[in-house]
Amino acid sequence: MDIKGKVAIVTGASDGLGRQVSLKLAKEGVSLALVARSEEKLDLVEKEAEKLGSPKVVCYSCDIQDSEQIKKTVQKIEVDFNEVQILLNIAGIWQKLNLLEDIPEEEVDSVIDTDLVGMIHMTRLVLPILKRQKEAIILNDSSRSGVTAQPGQSVYTAAKWGVRGFTEVLKEDLKETNVKVAAIYQGGTNTELFNKAGEHFNQEKFIKPEDLADVIVYMLSRPSGIWLHDVRIEH
Ligand SMILES: NC(=O)c1ccc[n+]([C@@H]2O[C@H](COP(=O)([O-])OP(=O)(O)OC[C@H]3O[C@@H](n4cnc5c(N)ncnc54)[C@H](OP(=O)(O)O)[C@@H]3O)[C@@H](O)[C@H]2O)c1
Repeated sequence: MDIKGKVAIVTGASDGLGRQVSLKLAKEGVSLALVARSEEKLDLVEKEAEKLGSPKVVCYSCDIQDSEQIKKTVQKIEVDFNEVQILLNIAGIWQKLNLLEDIPEEEVDSVIDTDLVGMIHMTRLVLPILKRQKEAIILNDSSRSGVTAQPGQSVYTAAKWGVRGFTEVLKEDLKETNVKVAAIYQGGTNTELFNKAGEHFNQEKFIKPEDLADVIVYMLSRPSGIWLHDVRIEH
């Protein structure tokens, strides 16, 4: 897609990978609907994205665990932008490594609701807008945990394998339409994802989020005859 002048919704835009992708897209002249909970962090990304050349940036404080908030957010985005060609489902949280019986009930719910259910609701509400465009793209962030079984990650892995299944079926359902679908499956990335969940890894050798953001921009901007639909990235 020739992404210049297109409109992208980025969930998880306030931090980490979502922030980096938003800034790279801004440089490419993409307009941005930035979605996350923290208004303060979104405002900072908005200011930077405007400086980098994005024609239009609007922030939407939204908890994607709450389907009503997603509904209101998508309605506002439609009014503000009228068109959307790119949906980047990046928002997510980590589940602290634990045996299943030791994972608190609230953590089970919040990981599944954020990493999988929120993505599904966001996508089902944005899809009618995407279908009206000449070309459109949905890119879902899964994880290495979406293709492997790592000990202690039962709930996170359930969500991320869910993202993979969701993506694969969407790809089939939409293959005769204008909407292309892809997922990325990255290994450890140097963001605050783990620290926020109280997990502390040595992240020295982890992927840099700005490098991963370059991969996403590359995927989005392929010529219309080819499509990278399943990209696995390791450090
Ligand atoms: N870091 C890794 O090693 C790694 C590896 C594989 C896959 N991933 C995936 O990559 C994605 C991005 O993670 P990251 O590493 O960039 O982590 P991050 O820096 O913590 O960013 C996570 C983003 O998700 C948003 N978010 C979390 N809960 C939300 C909610 N309920 N509603 C709306 N937004 C919410 C956060 O914003 P607010 O807090 O402002 O809401 C933030 O913008 C996640 O899906 C993660 O599972 C990460």
